[in-house]
Amino acid sequence: MAAEGFGGLAGKRIVLTGATRGIGRACALRLARGGAAVLGVARDAKALASLAMEAKSFAGRIFGHSCDVTRPESMPALAEAAEKRLGAVDALVNNAGAAVFGEIGVLSPEDFDATLAVCLKAPYLVTRSLVPLMEGTGGDVINISSIAAVDGFPGAAAYCAAKAGLEGMSRALVEELRPKGIRVTVLRPGATATRMWEAIPGEYDMDKMIPPEAVAESLEHLLTQSRRAWTETLVLYPPDGKV
Ligand SMILES: NC(=O)c1ccc[n+]([C@@H]2O[C@H](COP(=O)([O-])OP(=O)(O)OC[C@H]3O[C@@H](n4cnc5c(N)ncnc54)[C@H](OP(=O)(O)O)[C@@H]3O)[C@@H](O)[C@H]2O)c1
Repeated sequence: MAAEGFGGLAGKRIVLTGATRGIGRACALRLARGGAAVLGVARDAKALASLAMEAKSFAGRIFGHSCDVTRPESMPALAEAAEKRLGAVDALVNNAGAAVFGEIGVLSPEDFDATLAVCLKAPYLVTRSLVPLMEGTGGDVINISSIAAVDGFPGAAAYCAAKAGLEGMSRALVEELRPKGIRVTVLRPGATATRMWEAIPGEYDMDKMIPPEAVAESLEHLLTQSRRAWTETLVLYPPDGKV
């Protein structure tokens, strides 16, 4: 992709984790509508196939790769799929996320580990596997964080820790990958209307949350921003304020 000036999405080769639902699905469809080729990654192979079919209906290109991004042994096949389907990688979007919520005495060590595995360890694993395919592309790594990285929520100790960790890792990678011409950006949404809320105790008004399509719009902005500037962190809130 062009190292200077403005570039659109057309022709960009993008790996996006967590593509089957919520924010990831909206992003995959928006990127494909803009002409990008997307390798969508998630565990649910059927949902990936239906996503790819939906893209075909508007001549978009979404390829599915089913894997568990928390597992180091999944990484060689993921890198192979990226190389086979896309050649090189212009952008990696670390979006896959899941969390177990509960007060500290209830949250088990296994729940804590599982939350950190998908929200923090997976972006580490996927990024280290794909950076070799990004060198020389002037590429982007976008890490989908959450306002939980900076705001505390009761019952969300593991999730807040994982997202704060993700932002810390992102700051290190900003400096580490800068010499390779790779921009690292944190996209930090507030409450977004997705199925993730099914795991969160309480009642919520989904209508007051950010629609996943609006997060996708911001992702497109980041991926098409002139390389003469760099948004390190983009924070999104619902228009009526925090939910
Ligand atoms: N919803 C919100 O309010 C909100 C706000 C701020 C940030 N976020 C962040 O946005 C991201 C997307 O969340 P969402 O709300 O769209 O959640 P979601 O609707 O529950 O979707 C989560 C996605 O992650 C995938 N995934 C989960 N575990 C995985 C694993 N081990 N390996 C591969 N894929 C996995 C799921 O696919 P499979 O089940 O098919 O694997 C699914 O596609 C997350 O990082 C989340 O923390 C969400």
